[in-house]
Amino acid sequence: MKVKDKDFKIYLTKDEIQSKVGDIAQAIGADYKDECPLFIAILNGSFMFAADLMKKIDLESEISFVKVASYSKMESTGNLKELIGLNENIFNRSVILIEDIIDSGKTMENLLEKLTELGPKSVEVATLLIKPEALATNLKIKYVGFEIPNDFVIGYGLDYDGLGRNLEDIYQVK
Ligand code: IMP
Ligand code: MG
Repeated sequence: MKVKDKDFKIYLTKDEIQSKVGDIAQAIGADYKDECPLFIAILNGSFMFAADLMKKIDLESEISFVKVASYSKMESTGNLKELIGLNENIFNRSVILIEDIIDSGKTMENLLEKLTELGPKSVEVATLLIKPEALATNLKIKYVGFEIPNDFVIGYGLDYDGLGRNLEDIYQVK
């Protein structure tokens, strides 16, 4: 499949993704059984993962959305732009961040620093994908869907220069 100037091949099918999202929902459900966690989905990339995850979460819970951006086309700039849209008071809340992919980890590290200053009871991260070889920080991520090689992927919320977010499967650049 071609998107702009790049060729992509199928990498994770929608069935594999849905089954993994179910596993993550179950793990979170067990860990937060007596709490009312606040999920915070990081837009844009996590919108599909967040929607599917929330449908499978069997917990009293809330969800909110924030936006950050540190990526330009295919390389991480490392500069976290402003955190936009956090209207909830997270003081003393159990927070679970929902992310599509952790690459260098800089976006997440930055965000965790900002959120920790607001005094939550706890903050954990659920990411669908992680690229361990690209990780440049020592982040502890509690819920990981798939560990993937350091190749660019699109689909299921992830984009290449704005395109491909609508795909139900995940594709890897050839
Ligand atoms: P990090 O700060 O380097 O960890 O970059 C994280 C962000 O970069 C993610 O939230 C994505 O939006 C984007 N990103 C990283 N790798 C990919 C990829 O393979 N495809 C699409 N977006 C990516
Ligand atoms: Mg993202």
